[in-house]
Amino acid sequence: MSHKKVAILLSGGGSNMVALLDSMTGDHPARASLVMSNDSEAGGLKKAAARGIATAAVDHRPFKGDRATFEAELIKPLIAAEPDIVCLAGFMRVLTADFVTQFQGRMLNIHPSLLPKYKGLHTHARALEAGDAHHGCTVHEVTAALDDGPILGQATVDVLPEDTPDLLAARVLKKEHMLYPAVLRRFAQGDRTPILLS
Ligand code: GAR
Repeated sequence: MSHKKVAILLSGGGSNMVALLDSMTGDHPARASLVMSNDSEAGGLKKAAARGIATAAVDHRPFKGDRATFEAELIKPLIAAEPDIVCLAGFMRVLTADFVTQFQGRMLNIHPSLLPKYKGLHTHARALEAGDAHHGCTVHEVTAALDDGPILGQATVDVLPEDTPDLLAARVLKKEHMLYPAVLRRFAQGDRTPILLS
C-alpha cells in the first residue's frame, strides 16, 4: 500500500505533531515525510528527529517581515518532500495567499477555539472574558483568510468556574491531540465529513 505523504509545520513544542506522528502507523493511509519549522530551536523538531522523521527549518527573523521572500525559502524543502497533505500544527506565522494557494485543498490547520469564534491569538482568555460555557478546538482546511476555511472537525470542552487561560488551554490541548489525528486519518482517506468530539 502506498501511503499519502504528510508534511507538518510547527513553531513550538510540537505536541500536536507528536500526536499526528503517533497516529500514522499500521493501516493508517498516511505517513510523515517532513517536519518543518520557522525556528531551528523549536522543541518539536527534536521530537520529530528522535522519531526518525526528516526535519528542516527556515528562520523567519532574517526576512524582517518580508513574507514572500521567507515563504520562497520555506517552500523549497516542503516541495522537495512532495507532500500530499500539509498539516499546520502550532505554526505561528501567517501565510500569504500565494503560499496557501499552492496547497489548496490539502493544507489543514488546528486552531484553539470553536471557529468561527476567536480567530487569531489569545483564544482561551477571550473565551473566558466572554463568559462562554463551552470552548474547544477546530481543524479546518487552510484558505487565504486567517483561521477560516471549511471546518473538518471540532472538539468541545466545558468551561469551569475555576478556569484560567492556562487551565483551559491544557484541557483544550488534550482534545486537540484526539481531534487532529482523527481528522487527518479521515482526510487522508478522502473523507471531509466533519468530526465532532465532546
Ligand atoms: C496548539 O494549541 C494549537 O492549537 C495552537 O498552538 C498550540 C501548539 O501547541 N495553534 C495556534 O494557535 C495557531 N493559530 P503544540 O506545539 O504543543 O502542538
